[in-house]
Amino acid sequence: MTQEHIIYLSETFKDIASIHENDLDKYGRDETEDLLFRPQMVLKPSTTKEVAEILKYCNAHKIPVTPSGARTGLSGGALPIKGGIALSLERMNKIISIDENNYQVTTQPGVITQVLQEAVKAKGLFYPPDPASKGSCFIGGNIAENSGGPKAVKYGVTADYVLNLEVVLPSGEVIWTGANVLKNATGYNLTQLIVGSEGTLGVVTQIVLRLIPHPTVDMLMLVPFYDARKACEAVAAIMKTGITPSGLEFMERDAILWTIKNIPSIQLEVADNHAAHLLIEVDGFDENKLIEECEKIAEVLEQFETGEVLFADSQAQKDKLWEVRRKVGEAVKSHSIYKEEDTVVPRFELPNLLSGVKQIGEKYGFQSVCYGHAGDGNLHVNIIKGDLSEDQWNNELPIAIREIFELTVQLGGTISGEHGIGLVQKSYMDIPFTAASLRLMKGIKQLFDPNNIMNPGKILED
Ligand code: LAC
Ligand code: ZN
Repeated sequence: MTQEHIIYLSETFKDIASIHENDLDKYGRDETEDLLFRPQMVLKPSTTKEVAEILKYCNAHKIPVTPSGARTGLSGGALPIKGGIALSLERMNKIISIDENNYQVTTQPGVITQVLQEAVKAKGLFYPPDPASKGSCFIGGNIAENSGGPKAVKYGVTADYVLNLEVVLPSGEVIWTGANVLKNATGYNLTQLIVGSEGTLGVVTQIVLRLIPHPTVDMLMLVPFYDARKACEAVAAIMKTGITPSGLEFMERDAILWTIKNIPSIQLEVADNHAAHLLIEVDGFDENKLIEECEKIAEVLEQFETGEVLFADSQAQKDKLWEVRRKVGEAVKSHSIYKEEDTVVPRFELPNLLSGVKQIGEKYGFQSVCYGHAGDGNLHVNIIKGDLSEDQWNNELPIAIREIFELTVQLGGTISGEHGIGLVQKSYMDIPFTAASLRLMKGIKQLFDPNNIMNPGKILED
């Protein structure tokens, strides 16, 4: 983008444009490692029309546009790696309507996920997907990355709730991808194509989500295991009972230890021989039924050599335990330079994934801390820099990560469950996909975005 473009855009969009150094720094980062790629300008539109005008101009002049939400992403999706415009959707932050008759909500993309959840909850309705960052991430970002979170094991991920999207194409044309209906067999599924496309095809400006009745009761237990592999084995055994917990989370010893260090008010003993924990939640509408489910789960757990199970006995305690789980990522980040992988396998293979990751760690000499959505087979593998040399970190680690991903795919899984490919995973896309699949993806990108202005350099290698 030339100085001339900057001047034109600053004048045309003077109320929504910024080239302040602070903004360029701020919008040059997300939560991915320590990466910084500054845009040349930040634009903060508040209407679909403004988004369309911006894209039309940028398309004509081949200026890169990186859509930007709350920048809580973990794969570098919001980093403007080619400079150009950071297009922040933060001013498009209104919930447009809640349709209680049809159990739907129509919203702009810049609404914080938890704010949306609370607004629909006030009407007895439930929007379940709840990434760890739900208190700050935007619903638009969740659509871009197809976010998951702990509830996915019972309720599914973002994609499972998206009915229809208003999208501005790079040409400046505005489309709706589908219809506000629960069934749709009308042509190619553009809605689901946009979900998870990480801002590489267009900009989502309105979102229609389906909702469900909000459960009225839940119960939560924290279960210590002496052997981390056994904790993973217990996951499939619990699911085999026919009970579907509304949360089935795994945390390795260091994950929980490092996190509770950062939460002074927490009272939680982690004994020396506790290698891992499962955090298990059940929810529904009938307390007695949940008690039965907890008893059945406790019975299954007896085969897996656990320590004493902690049942949360108050809302405050439940909130604390969930706070611990949600803050693991942050705790790992503050502990050390790290790289986070988002592997996912069919859940019965989770123990093999965990053991494989540890073996690869031994082979290459790195420490890993694993946690995640065990019920989904989704393991966040955090590789700790510790005292690895720069050479090991920069040159050997990518080879080790490749091995982890190859193992993941051999086990029937794939390389990202919920964080997306973005920047940091794109060089591994040849592992889950053949050349033919990648060719189709490139063709889709080319069709939507012939000038490669939309979040260029993401998902696929140039
Ligand atoms: C979590 C984020 C990192 O599960 O996905 O905490
Ligand atoms: Zn997660």
